[in-house]
Amino acid sequence: MSDNLVYGKISSKESMELEEKYGAHNYHPLPVVLAKGEGVHLWDPEGNHYYDFLSAYSAVNQGHCHPKIVNALIDQARELTLTSRAFFNNKLGEYEKFVTDFFGYDMVLPMNSGAEGVETALKLARKWGYTVKGIEKDNAIIIFCENNFHGRTLFVVSASTDPDCYDGFGPFIPGIMKIAYNDVNALAEALAKHGKNVAAFIVEPIQGEAGVFVPEDGYLKKCYELCKEHNVLFIADEVQTGIARTGKLLACDYDNVRPDILILGKAISGGVLPVSAVLADREIMLTIKPGQHGSTFGGFPLACAVAKAALEVVKEEKLAERAFTLGERFRASLRAINHPMLKLVRGRGLLNAIVVEPKDGVEAWDVCLMLKEKGILCKPTHRHIIRLAPPLVITEEELDECAAIIKSVFETL
Ligand SMILES: Cc1ncc(COP(=O)(O)O)c(C=O)c1O
Repeated sequence: MSDNLVYGKISSKESMELEEKYGAHNYHPLPVVLAKGEGVHLWDPEGNHYYDFLSAYSAVNQGHCHPKIVNALIDQARELTLTSRAFFNNKLGEYEKFVTDFFGYDMVLPMNSGAEGVETALKLARKWGYTVKGIEKDNAIIIFCENNFHGRTLFVVSASTDPDCYDGFGPFIPGIMKIAYNDVNALAEALAKHGKNVAAFIVEPIQGEAGVFVPEDGYLKKCYELCKEHNVLFIADEVQTGIARTGKLLACDYDNVRPDILILGKAISGGVLPVSAVLADREIMLTIKPGQHGSTFGGFPLACAVAKAALEVVKEEKLAERAFTLGERFRASLRAINHPMLKLVRGRGLLNAIVVEPKDGVEAWDVCLMLKEKGILCKPTHRHIIRLAPPLVITEEELDECAAIIKSVFETL
């Protein structure tokens, strides 16, 4: 045990040593240990304060330990946590009605992680392709975009164009086509050639992990229309962009697109539990029959109570509207920073990125370390991009304070 601890019984140093020794080395975290969170604030075991500018990759949109969501968790945990889907439970149906009303779909298939949500959507699309569209057995194609990130299952790493994601994990799943992102013609050509066998086109409305890459206005709409022309399902992976993050409830709302299949995760539980959801209308959803897909935890009572509360918070606290206004303000502050290493600021709502020009051995990672020293936590993606995505409950004053800190860090580079 260490002295000088404010939170918990294990120091930052000990925590990092334990993870290094006993945990798989599949992550490269920033050297900071978090012990407590509240709203946009985080503290390490020694009591040092940080602003969260990652939000657990956009899972904590409602802020850390939101009291309404935590209370929903505690109340439900006292009643019933898990039943499996071998039986009905008194929370699932109520949640299913709520969530389908919330997003405007006939039906939902509840899962846990985002990757499972994606896997579910892809299985659903293949099933629909064979049973409704009439694609010949085992010939279904799913079209993905280059630089995508849809999680870590074998299906989606098979579709990845990032060697870190796929190298060493073959053989890969067949029936995958990869086309350029933000390129309507690439989709038009692929569909003209292979449309008969294409079950679905899956796209991130903004590519988050690729570095907050925002496509041109109208891209999603044109892709959607092309899909309709070829009787192909348009799947939106809104695991990272959904649930108010980009300044609308869904990032697809910017283009007035209603995806045929919508995948949500992360913030659907406010970062409290792993909860994901696949939404679609009956014609698509009912192609999967009893026994053909599922998960022991998918739609468990605890998740239902938590997700319902988390979505209520999004409405009650007008998080989409907040993210929209605060995002405009934040980008304006960042764009006013005049420094040769700061190349570009881009984003929507509170999903933003700074593109830096690495110089004299200083890369995005080093800038993140300097920001950490000044009390802001964020993570680079690639060598030159810093994603900035605070919880949507951040106040104007806090956001301005953080923009000033970011400016001061660039001034010292
Ligand atoms: C767009 C997108 N899809 C899927 C996933 C995978 O979600 P999870 O990490 O919960 O499996 C992520 C995670 O970052 C994501 O950004």
